Amino acid sequence: MLITGASFGIGRALALQLGLAGADLLLAARSLDELEKVASDLHELGGRARAYEVDLTDPASVDAFTTQLAAEGVQVDVVVHNAGKSIRRLIAQSLDRTHDFRRTIGVNYLGPVQLQLALLPAMMARRAGHIVSVQSLGVRLPPAPRWAAYTAAKAAFDAWLRSAGPELRQHGIACTSIYLGLVHTRMSAPTAAYGQMPGMTADEAARVICRALIHRPRRIQPWWLGPLRVLAPWCEGLVDRALGWSLRRERTP
Ligand SMILES: NC(=O)c1ccc[n+]([C@@H]2O[C@H](COP(=O)([O-])OP(=O)(O)OC[C@H]3O[C@@H](n4cnc5c(N)ncnc54)[C@H](OP(=O)(O)O)[C@@H]3O)[C@@H](O)[C@H]2O)c1
Repeated sequence: MLITGASFGIGRALALQLGLAGADLLLAARSLDELEKVASDLHELGGRARAYEVDLTDPASVDAFTTQLAAEGVQVDVVVHNAGKSIRRLIAQSLDRTHDFRRTIGVNYLGPVQLQLALLPAMMARRAGHIVSVQSLGVRLPPAPRWAAYTAAKAAFDAWLRSAGPELRQHGIACTSIYLGLVHTRMSAPTAAYGQMPGMTADEAARVICRALIHRPRRIQPWWLGPLRVLAPWCEGLVDRALGWSLRRERTP
């Protein structure tokens, strides 16, 4: 089982939970030292995990990673696309920052697609496998200001997997999208207000992913998301006014 973004946060918590449950893990991210710490903690406890350095924003790095896996004869049956990068910034402050959009699309969309395409032939040949996308609730809600770079990139991979899902199921491959709300990790920490808001811990979020790995549903989302999505088109004006009010309030000293 491959977990991307296993060096910190949700991915790290997931690696520890699955490793202790006996899974044979491939851990991928840029911080090789952190991945090796997770792997060695697991080895001490009797688990099996190998660490791989990969930068999802760099096509050559993703290519080198998948080539290495093939050379090692590693069969990947389950992929948890968990690595992610968020950026919370006003468009007015992003005018000279196209790199923000390139980075977020690289980590959250293009890199995962390149990785998955390289792993698919073997999964298709075996007619088995499970692809899990660790998603943000933001992609199922009316898009919020400041999150343009992140939400667009997460939504791209969400649409990719939901579009590929029916095709992949024909090849015996299950696909699951997990829509998480706030999780208190390194990613959410820079936004001070989130510290006061209710959210999951990384361990709690990892348990949700474990549930997905056992039951393989098409999606996991909070129960209230369905009714909210039905109501949303009727409340567009109200939502726009509320978002405008919160932006003005944040900017007023
Ligand atoms: N935290 C939240 O509130 C929240 C809510 C909904 C969904 N999510 C999603 O949950 C997932 C995990 O987020 P988290 O909260 O655990 O964040 P995190 O603690 O910042 O962890 C992000 C992981 O992604 C890896 N990563 C970042 N850039 C990468 C790159 N270029 N190449 C390879 N790996 C890279 C990081 O490792 P390196 O830095 O070592 O590369 C790290 O392991 C993300 O997909 C995120 O979108 C988070």
